[in-house]
Amino acid sequence: MKIQRPRGTQDFLPEEMAKRRFIESKMRKTVESWGYQEIQTPIFESLYLFTLRSGDTIIDQSYIFDDKGGRKLILRPELTEPVTRLYVEKLQADPKPLKLYYFSNCFRYERPQKGRFREFWQFGVELIGSDRPEAEVEVIALASSVLDNIGLKGDLHVGHLGALRSLIGDLSDEQKNAIIRSIDKRDYEGLRTYLDEIGATALEENIRALIKSEDIKEARETVGDVPALERLEDISDQLDLYGISHKIDFSVARGLEYYTGMVFEIYAEGLGTENQICGGGSYRLAHLFGGEDTPSTGFAFGFDRVIMALGDIKLPQQTKVMIVSTKEQREWARTKVAPRIRKYFPTEVDLMDRDINGQLSRANAIGATHVVIVGERELQKGEEFVTLKGMKTGEQETLTMEEAIKRIRLDEV
Ligand code: HAM
Repeated sequence: MKIQRPRGTQDFLPEEMAKRRFIESKMRKTVESWGYQEIQTPIFESLYLFTLRSGDTIIDQSYIFDDKGGRKLILRPELTEPVTRLYVEKLQADPKPLKLYYFSNCFRYERPQKGRFREFWQFGVELIGSDRPEAEVEVIALASSVLDNIGLKGDLHVGHLGALRSLIGDLSDEQKNAIIRSIDKRDYEGLRTYLDEIGATALEENIRALIKSEDIKEARETVGDVPALERLEDISDQLDLYGISHKIDFSVARGLEYYTGMVFEIYAEGLGTENQICGGGSYRLAHLFGGEDTPSTGFAFGFDRVIMALGDIKLPQQTKVMIVSTKEQREWARTKVAPRIRKYFPTEVDLMDRDINGQLSRANAIGATHVVIVGERELQKGEEFVTLKGMKTGEQETLTMEEAIKRIRLDEV
């Protein structure tokens, strides 16, 4: 019987992994250059953390289990709530705003399809403690900068939940959330049925008009001059100053229930229905977890979708050295030459007792850029000597190890 990996999970082979790490490091560099610092939280949390505010959808989609002590636990479906828990536990006294980032796996029991997994990776930031529009704008600008730096184009849509809430303010929280959920799923039929069910049919026309509005002026015609629209206008003007193109979109409702104001999503081409590569917005959660009421803004990229949207990723060529030796010099090559070269470049030695030709084919197979040959002839010149062969040029020259290292370095630039 062959055992297969669980549905909705992924294996990453070395080549794929190298590409993922390459993109990940660019994303890290970007957020670090804006002053964000990395944190890590546990892979499972107390279930309670997510039942307070995430919403039913996310709970329905989660891996929930009891541990041997009878505690109700959950594999994290996202990171905003764990980060807020950590903030309340350990970082509340720190100078504001706090700028945190993470790259972690998340788990959602969804129906797997292209771009939708049960284990996937999120790369995200949380900017905690500022209520200013500048902070919200920075978070959006940062997401846009991440995309620029990895060379991916995305369509940025920015909205504000306050506009919709001003229309449905009289309903209960449960009803509001149900409406926001249908809008998030673009399930307008379901929305109509639900509004009929709760006796709020009259709201439909205005809700539809709002989510169809293409700009703030149009939205004002439906909801009037509410503060949410003023705020969104300010955010939009500031994004223009950054030179970040964006679309005002009141149908951005977000699937998670903790958002309180500005919300945004980024979509990439070529991914089919699961084209949302980033989602974020402003929220208040700290007071629910025993802390002080704290305004925060953040986003998370779906890293797997980012990688899919990038398609072919060209990695910079990496120097790799294979030490090739005659039988008699094998020990010397492995224990004295290789360690010296390995200090500077990834270096491999023969482990299969192959002859010179066999070792040279291995060098080809592993994509070695250079071969360092250690044989009788080299050692006769002195213990320091090796023959360096450039795999690209085919040129070879007998040099001291120090010279060989310098020569390999020169080939790198
Ligand atoms: P989210 O929109 O639920 O937001 O997830 C963020 C991103 O994770 C999505 O845009 C998508 O690219 C990716 N994603 C979600 N589910 C899957 C899946 N099943 N397979 C592959 N990728 C997926 C959040 O999680 C919020 N915590 C974001 C945030 C941070 N808001 C404020 N701060």
